[in-house]
Amino acid sequence: MELTHFTFNVEDGIAVVLLDRAGEPINTIGPVIFEEFDAVIDRIDTDPAIKAVVIGSAKKGNFLAGADIRFFETLTDPDEAAAAIRELHALFVRIEALHAVHDKPVVMAIDGACLGGGLELALTGSMRIVTDSHKTQLGQPEVQLGILPAGGGTQRLPKIIGVAAALDMILTGRPTRPHKALKIGLVDEVVPSEMLYEIATQRATESIGNLGESRGASVKGFLAPSHLQALAIEQNPVGRRVMFKKAEEAMLAKTKGLYPAPKRALEAVKIGVEQGNAAGYEAEATFFGELVTSPESKALRGIFFASQMMKYSIGISGRADPKKVSKVGILGGGLMGAGIATVSVLKAGATARIREVDEAGIGRALSHVSKEVSKQVKRRRLKPFEGEQAMNKVTGTTDWSGFRNVDIVIEAVFESLELKQALLAEAEDVIGDDVVFASNTSSLPIADIAADAKHPETVLGMHYFSPVEKMPLLEIVVTEDTADWATVTAVEFGKRQGKTVIVVKDGPGFYTTRILVPYLNEAFFLLSEGASIKAIDKAMVKWGFPIGPLLLTDEVGIDVGAHISKIMLDAFGERMAGPEMAQGLLDDDRQGRKNGRGFYEYDDKGVRGGIDEDVYQALGLGPRREIPKAEIQERIALAMVNEAARCLEEGILQSAVDGDMGAVMGLGFPPFRGGPFWWMDEVGAGEIVAKLEALAEKHGERFEPAGIIRTQAESEKTFR
Ligand code: NAI
Repeated sequence: MELTHFTFNVEDGIAVVLLDRAGEPINTIGPVIFEEFDAVIDRIDTDPAIKAVVIGSAKKGNFLAGADIRFFETLTDPDEAAAAIRELHALFVRIEALHAVHDKPVVMAIDGACLGGGLELALTGSMRIVTDSHKTQLGQPEVQLGILPAGGGTQRLPKIIGVAAALDMILTGRPTRPHKALKIGLVDEVVPSEMLYEIATQRATESIGNLGESRGASVKGFLAPSHLQALAIEQNPVGRRVMFKKAEEAMLAKTKGLYPAPKRALEAVKIGVEQGNAAGYEAEATFFGELVTSPESKALRGIFFASQMMKYSIGISGRADPKKVSKVGILGGGLMGAGIATVSVLKAGATARIREVDEAGIGRALSHVSKEVSKQVKRRRLKPFEGEQAMNKVTGTTDWSGFRNVDIVIEAVFESLELKQALLAEAEDVIGDDVVFASNTSSLPIADIAADAKHPETVLGMHYFSPVEKMPLLEIVVTEDTADWATVTAVEFGKRQGKTVIVVKDGPGFYTTRILVPYLNEAFFLLSEGASIKAIDKAMVKWGFPIGPLLLTDEVGIDVGAHISKIMLDAFGERMAGPEMAQGLLDDDRQGRKNGRGFYEYDDKGVRGGIDEDVYQALGLGPRREIPKAEIQERIALAMVNEAARCLEEGILQSAVDGDMGAVMGLGFPPFRGGPFWWMDEVGAGEIVAKLEALAEKHGERFEPAGIIRTQAESEKTFR
């Protein structure tokens, strides 16, 4: 058979098989390559001259990234999906049999991504060698797509690294780096990239006739006392039961029972441990069929595809070339400015010049960056000298020195229009005429900031989310005047900072802040009608948000929230009016976490305690009454998605996909619901309109359905 997805060479009795998925930038696994893979194994199986095998990849920095997710989209029938998995199982069992039955060692040579089906392939070998490249990572991220590792991962991984460690990898989906992988016994050796194949071939040769001892260096880590103790617990049925129970509790605490995939993955591991391989593999296949066709998995895959697509999007419909950015000037090194400096240096590889009001401000900013760099060094994402190099790229100033040759300015000073305008004017005297000036304002219209600009075409918004190092979204805001080259420059730089970027049209609150206001307002209305703080926050967490709206208000700052609400009210009128309670909170000196007084109690260190029951009195509210959870969820969620629809209708959003990604990545909209638009499609536009109309009747015009939802309902169209 002619091989199109593999290269195959035999030298000195060692077959070196390199995956090389034809016509694709990375390797993925799916039925398209099964047949060839089978043919490769046939050759190894039947050729007595082949004594051992090395399996690797011809694509540099990529071993095997996982299953071909496009293939999942073709699966509509659970049984058909399960059948495809059984085929994969058969293939992997054949590879395992090469060493387990036919005594031909199989060394997996891994450089770069070894994820999902990639790791499952690696697990079938008799030995795994990985490179120390920062691109190398091993993981089972399947649950993040709403499925489970179904290529034998739930069965082989526990046998190799122990049940507890395997559950941790499978249930969180978090990848493991080379040195940690060695420590937990997942791999046998970590080697420099350039020596990978030389060492792999050598180990394959040494293992011929010697398979029992082929487990190399990892045995050391694997035999560490802590590991042995863990294994002893796992082998004892009582200990095992406790361990599974603990894992299940931790998983449910995280998923709130809303995500079926981790639950099924845990079950598959348990079945394998208790009833043996055959039952375990069968569970994998059946559960895969069930999960891959579930709405949760489809929504999560929708997000995955959208984020892939966005990597290639430049944010404008036409064409323009981005300017090269190697030096960024940052105004204000507070919480946001220092975070922006961190990602600019660490992720984008740029140098950052921070302007602050005084030396103390510079000191705070630099120490913020330094803390983040140290974290990376500690986690071995950076070598110590790389950490030092990164720190050398950040400097501070209290004047404009060093700004003359910056390629972009990002402003993150206090939220004051006058201050922002004044700084823009000063900056324009120093920076070049073709340098992008970006504001990180969270609510002020960019056109207002640019009102007196000499070069309004260079001004736009780069709205980051806190903490900048962690939050994946960047909302870029463009005015009528913003030039396309400026937009694409900001988009490209944002992507280099590791962000998922959406480009939206300027307007009060842009997209994310704008849809957050009705969401928070509705929580306040419910509070004023008698719902308890606990009931409101719990209901929204149960709906899938990471935290409830009132706790979020504490986090954002009650004063900040009130300020933004006012801007929205002025811009949009009654629809954005809350129940006028925020003032009561502010009169009672409640600003949220930052001053230790909010809806929740905080200790001196800002650690949150329980709900502060005095809030009701401060707000002049009487005794609480029961408002059904479903009503709370429906009102708060619909308030948000209705406003999102308006943003699409008004062209603030370029697309429903942007709206979904913005809400999921920026505001924690439940990922398994796919985003506001995906969710409206799932529920049905007709149903959404009916619910909104019923609410409008009861609570007033703020629930009046957006025109675009009505249109969708009438034409039976979907947003996505
Ligand atoms: P912050 O108070 O932590 O930092 C502001 C910094 O600007 C301070 O360190 C201050 O010394 C400095 N500053 C003030 N005037 C200056 C001047 N003339 N020149 C140089 N530096 C000056 O505030 P934070 O939270 O970092 O917010 C900054 C901006 O980012 C605001 O516009 C805010 O609305 C926006 N934003 C904040 C988010 C958040 O979650 N905190 C999220 C997204 C945007």
